[in-house]
Amino acid sequence: MFNCETVRADFPILNRQIHSQPLVYFDNAATSQKPKAVIQAISDYYTGYNSNIHRGVHTLSGEATDAYEGARGRIGRWFGTEDLGEIILLRGATEALNLVAASLAHNLRSGDVILVGTTEHHANIVPWQQLETSIGIKIVPIPVDSRGTLSLDKARELTRNNRVKVIAIGHVSNAIGAVNDAAGFVSLAREINAFSVIDGAQAAPHMRVNCALLGADFYVLSAHKCCGPTGIGVLIGRRALLDELPPWQGGGDMIDRVSFSGTTYNELPWKFEAGTPNIAGTIGFAAALDYLEKIDFDGAIAHENRVHRHLIKAMKSRKSVELLGNPENWVSVCSFNIKGAHPNDVGTLLDQLGFAVRTGHHCAMPTMEHFNLPGTCRASLAFYNSIDEVDAFIEGLDRVAGMLAG
Ligand code: ALA
Repeated sequence: MFNCETVRADFPILNRQIHSQPLVYFDNAATSQKPKAVIQAISDYYTGYNSNIHRGVHTLSGEATDAYEGARGRIGRWFGTEDLGEIILLRGATEALNLVAASLAHNLRSGDVILVGTTEHHANIVPWQQLETSIGIKIVPIPVDSRGTLSLDKARELTRNNRVKVIAIGHVSNAIGAVNDAAGFVSLAREINAFSVIDGAQAAPHMRVNCALLGADFYVLSAHKCCGPTGIGVLIGRRALLDELPPWQGGGDMIDRVSFSGTTYNELPWKFEAGTPNIAGTIGFAAALDYLEKIDFDGAIAHENRVHRHLIKAMKSRKSVELLGNPENWVSVCSFNIKGAHPNDVGTLLDQLGFAVRTGHHCAMPTMEHFNLPGTCRASLAFYNSIDEVDAFIEGLDRVAGMLAG
């Protein structure tokens, strides 16, 4: 049974003071905090069995390999993927999206169309734009409705162009927090025989994601937003597709045999994992998933959603506040501006009171352009945030609004 107070004690950083005020950490969409169990697992690896994987006959290498491959199994169980060949361990969601775009380039021709959500993070825009330059594909943005959610109906209209070959969307938008209809976009892609690419970086921390049920061709996510370490992310792809795609980076571990007369490649998933991977990070991510299971993840999400509704209700009651979006299905994020104030000024004053929020375009400039905003302040929650923290934040924000108005 989830208990917020008990869980907060697992996160040492939450005891910090910022400018002599208790830290209220509302920047979880940028990165989540890490529980002791994750910090310990990383420390155990470095102090007890630090060694390279897949490369040694000695005991330490065997232990590190078992822990690394065991972590892959843990990740597979969490995301509903039994075939571990479909779990590619990478540096982050950004690297995973770059891998998918670069590898799919071999299936695309000049004039092919890629539908990309208007509200995407730059990581799900720029790799496709690089294909515009290199092979002449065309990106068409999927319109967003007035509430901030990607329109499946409008996307369907765009697929009347029979050159649509890829549909790439975020499961949850990082700047707004709108939950998009990932299953609907996956079915649409399947109907027109296009590839579906889902950026789950902002979804994985806030809901159960079952990749087998969702059926996307490619699903990507980052560990560091799910209480895991930075520098580790996952691409979950369908075996049949991954088998056909050429490897992305070349180097150690991704090969079967190398000779100057020709090289053959390793089997999945290692074909896409060139070089020494983030061993400690992978082990740390598995520890994070163990932790989330232990604290009752479903209860944690229910609590987080309650706190989020409380925040949104309070923000909507403030005349000085303008919210970005109002999605029907909304998680974690509250993006806002105080009328007449620059978001950076609001964020700096909030920091003086101990509140950590992100300000600016949130790596989603086209979202800001669409809503005609220079940027926003973004408060983003995790399960360890409480109703009391939200109440303190609203009080702090009222003070900040008063200071800026005066
Ligand atoms: N993508 C991260 C964010 O939304 C860094 O803040």
